[in-house]
Amino acid sequence: MLVLLGAPGAGKGTQAHVLARHFGLPRVATGDLFRGAARDGSPLGLAARGYMERGELVPDEITVEMLLERLDAPDAERGAILDGFPRTRAQAEALDRALAERGTVVDAALLVDVPTGELLQRLTGRWLCGAVGHTYHETAYPPRVPGICDIDGSALIQRDDDRPEIVKARLEKQLGALADVVEHYRAAGVLQAVDGRRPIASVTNDLLDAIEPIPYWRTSP
Ligand code: AP5
Repeated sequence: MLVLLGAPGAGKGTQAHVLARHFGLPRVATGDLFRGAARDGSPLGLAARGYMERGELVPDEITVEMLLERLDAPDAERGAILDGFPRTRAQAEALDRALAERGTVVDAALLVDVPTGELLQRLTGRWLCGAVGHTYHETAYPPRVPGICDIDGSALIQRDDDRPEIVKARLEKQLGALADVVEHYRAAGVLQAVDGRRPIASVTNDLLDAIEPIPYWRTSP
């Protein structure tokens, strides 16, 4: 199991899509699961929506249960790329326990490290494809055709929580918990940090280099 860590806007989603394609594994993103549930109007989605609109983390009990249910789906049997989970120490410990029951572990926790000062402009300029969430940025990484996803041709949208006032709340309220999760994986000896300010393809290469020594994730012969 690979875990992608980083502040809001650090590039977790961008890299998780690439790694998922590279390894032929599902990308499991708790933010996407919450947004899907909110669109469906399910009780879980309605419960999560208020927290997301305030830039707060959704409570651990709800989040862990939803994530573990998703990991039980057949497509995640061989593993997954986790994007946006765990976000608290309690979530990281719950994941460790659940994986131990399944006879597996977090092989690497990959921290995409970006200074806080860069995150506001990354998020307020972000556009996502409506189909699966491929990411673009209006100046740094624009699509070839304005408003259309290069990869699947779907229309690009902006997220409600990318409004500047909500982005500021997300950064204020979530960075402390991220530091705890980073410490959890540093203590476990599986933390790998890469410089998330480099171009997207360079960040991907750095992540693949970090994973390469782990037997299951080795891609070269
Ligand atoms: P979630 O959807 O997970 O949002 P997030 O963590 O805030 O992260 P983002 O998706 O906003 O950013 P990202 O790091 O994926 O960056 P991206 O690749 O898009 O969570 C939303 C909410 O759900 C949370 O606030 C919380 O309420 C709730 N939630 C979710 N999971 C939870 C959990 N486990 N526990 C509790 N609550 C939870 O890139 C951003 C922009 O930068 C894009 O425009 C991109 O083009 C650009 N970019 C990417 N890489 C680069 C680069 N190398 N150089 C320049 N620009 C780049």
